[in-house]
Amino acid sequence: MAKRGASFVCQACGATYVRWQGKCDACGAWNSIAEEEVGGGALQNSLPSAQRGGRKGRVLTLESLAGTTEDAPRTASGIAEFDRVAGGGLVPGSVLLIGGDPGIGKSTLLIQASAALARAGQRVVYVSGEEAVAQVRLRAARLGLAEAPVELAAETNVEDIVATLAAGRAPALLVIDSIQTMWTDTAESAPGTVTQVRSSAQILIRYAKRSGAAVILVGHVTKDGQIAGPRVVEHMVDAVLSFEGDGAHQFRILRAQKNRFGPTDEIGVFEMTGLGLAEVANPSELFLSNRDRGAPGTAVYAGMEGTRPLLVEIQALVVPTSLGTPRRAVVGWDSSRLSMVLAVLEARCGVKLGAHDVHLNVAGGLRIGEPAADLAVAAALVSSLSGAALPADAVYFGEISLTGAVRPVAYGPARLKEAAKLGFARAVMPAGAKDIAREMADTSIATETVSSLAELVAEIAARGRPRAVARSQDG
Ligand code: TYD
Ligand code: MG
Repeated sequence: MAKRGASFVCQACGATYVRWQGKCDACGAWNSIAEEEVGGGALQNSLPSAQRGGRKGRVLTLESLAGTTEDAPRTASGIAEFDRVAGGGLVPGSVLLIGGDPGIGKSTLLIQASAALARAGQRVVYVSGEEAVAQVRLRAARLGLAEAPVELAAETNVEDIVATLAAGRAPALLVIDSIQTMWTDTAESAPGTVTQVRSSAQILIRYAKRSGAAVILVGHVTKDGQIAGPRVVEHMVDAVLSFEGDGAHQFRILRAQKNRFGPTDEIGVFEMTGLGLAEVANPSELFLSNRDRGAPGTAVYAGMEGTRPLLVEIQALVVPTSLGTPRRAVVGWDSSRLSMVLAVLEARCGVKLGAHDVHLNVAGGLRIGEPAADLAVAAALVSSLSGAALPADAVYFGEISLTGAVRPVAYGPARLKEAAKLGFARAVMPAGAKDIAREMADTSIATETVSSLAELVAEIAARGRPRAVARSQDG
């Protein structure tokens, strides 16, 4: 527990210091430390009164691991993409934090989910600390949700909110938009500070556990992608979802970062339309729309997001550099992974890119994290360098090892089925997955296996102008 007098708190991670300093030693953030009234007083106050002072403990009944506990019951929100990411629906008594850039659509998503749940006959309370009731109404009216029996309040004091809710039947869902605007009487610092955010969240979490209401907290995200302030809240809540997307594209991705009640690798895909967020049931079609067929430097990657296959286009541009140190620009993929693929291309296949700028882009603004994208990235790079377009009807997947071998990856059949469904005729994939080939015998997709990256490079070079690759191999 913080010592009395330690009243300088890092607003990014919550570390406390005795005096002000420019950089937080705990998280490395600059200029994030602000003075707050946190001494023992506030922390003590935020504890239930029974825990203050030296009270004799109550004797607990210890339980065994084995026992009959039913699966967490779920309340489906009625928005399938949202439920998928939450692990099948909202768990009563759980608290979910949903983060995202301002303007990405958090409020829109939550008012839609609230309305869907309320229409299904559940009690839903939506508390906005950022907008007036009239503004929330206006948005609901624009979305055609004005008739949904959602109970609204524009309020920022958590004690008032909890007192209001305690008076009636516990809601199935309580939405707090946003946690940064909430404040509690028990903490003395200004609203929006770490102490206030943490104390407010604590009270709301306690309310959720006690009443069985599912609570969704909205949190703002800083430029570097962290949920500002609520970094400290992340540990306290049951699930953390992030809502991503960029201004240039109309689709949004809901991703689970932590989930005590479900998997963390699922994504939900939405499209922002004039009538709010629309669910995208088949994201591959969306990510492949407007694809440049037959242009060198693009490869279709058969990926997986959680249990769902997803096809995306990977674009590479390799151009001679005019700089001393060539540029390596990556959007949507891991830049150290790109360095690795470039190093393997150079060391194992003789493709030298030291005098070339490399730009890599995952089309549509999606972020992919799977190593299985290695093969598609390598194919796009070699295709761009050699000027030879890859076949438009082929998908690629496979992990590349440092030895230059192409290694099998999980979920082969699911990837191939998705590719077949979208009309692709062949898949370039790792060798050593014979069972996949057998399983896929009845689909329309032909599998082409490669066991090493050099094999793939040779094949692409043979398609187009082989001299381009040969020239760069000479140095
Ligand atoms: P909002 O839900 O207010 O974002 P957040 O709560 O994450 O800050 O979404 C705001 C943006 O969404 C706004 O820039 C306009 C856009 N939008 C639409 O394109 N269509 C719609 O139907 C709605 C309600 C919003
Ligand atoms: Mg909002």
